[in-house]
Amino acid sequence: MFVLGIESSCDETACAVVRNGSEVLGSVTAIQDHLHEAYGGVVPEIAARAHMQTILPVIEQALTEAKLTVPEVDVLAIANHPGLIGSLLVGLTTVKTLSVIFDKPVVAMNHLQCHLYANCLSMADHRPPDVGFPFVGLVVSGGHTSLVHATGWLDIDVIGSTHDDAAGEAFDKVAVVLGLGYPGGPAIERAACAGDPAAYKFPRSLMGRASLDFSFSGLKTSVLYTVRGHGGRKGLGPLSDQMRADLAASFQEAVVDTLVTKVLRAVEARGVGTVVLGGGVVANTRLRDKLTEATAKHGLTLHLPPRSLCTDNAAMVAGLGYPWARAGRFETLSLEAVPT
Ligand code: KG4
Ligand code: ZN
Repeated sequence: MFVLGIESSCDETACAVVRNGSEVLGSVTAIQDHLHEAYGGVVPEIAARAHMQTILPVIEQALTEAKLTVPEVDVLAIANHPGLIGSLLVGLTTVKTLSVIFDKPVVAMNHLQCHLYANCLSMADHRPPDVGFPFVGLVVSGGHTSLVHATGWLDIDVIGSTHDDAAGEAFDKVAVVLGLGYPGGPAIERAACAGDPAAYKFPRSLMGRASLDFSFSGLKTSVLYTVRGHGGRKGLGPLSDQMRADLAASFQEAVVDTLVTKVLRAVEARGVGTVVLGGGVVANTRLRDKLTEATAKHGLTLHLPPRSLCTDNAAMVAGLGYPWARAGRFETLSLEAVPT
């Protein structure tokens, strides 16, 4: 079965064709970082306009890579929630139009679940593991930080989420405070390489025993106050490269500690032996290393997607579209884009 997937929930315009839920035949992603850089974050209106300009060329390119045409595709897949409404609508309208013109069935999935499915895709540098159920999943991206309990690809329950900022959003905002540029995650990771993760004591929030939720806004504010000063306390003044590196490393460590602690707690609470990660922040080497270490210590199986499939892409959408299509979960043309 050939599934053509489209992803446009935030600021990446992507299309991919995946065979039988695993083999990536073509995958193209147009990024918009240069359009949002000046604002230190994604501007919804700019994102939606850019999707409109790039979506058709991106689809054509993905089909060319896959050596297929739309009539040869079996199913169309779209991540219709959550995301920015204007961005989601561009992808959804395109999928509906293709569905009507070429008489193709449509499946629609949750973007966060697609991130977890990225582990099951076969790429040149990645042979897909057999991801066994049940598992505890953690999706850490620019828009979301969610812990889930999955018993099947169609049965995924959210068991913890962020009360405020997502982990990736905190990376992006702290990078602005440190003057490190956009997107913040890779910039902070690069700066942190030369820094001491114990140089500054930043808070780890909601660590009370029972909580599986997250909060990163206090951490972000703590970095801001440390740099700029607050309530009579002096800030650091002009930042040297070493100060930036130490701040970046200490911030990154606080995020990673929190994520690893919550994953282990969720695993214990649900009594499962498998952990599956997904989302842009999973490209972070410190997070990958500390999770690998912690899960090995507890005898758990860990699945990390290849770095190329951590940030938004359409292969993960076309991939998850396969089990959904096999289960007959097809949509009608009244399908809506759902921002939350
Ligand atoms: O999954 P994604 O592409 O988009 C959403 O669904 O939100 O994630 C983008 C987020 C951004 O906040 C970016 O700063 C973060 O992932 N990110 C990273 C790294 N690479 C991307 N965060 C930490 N370390 C990285 N290496
Ligand atoms: Zn995403």
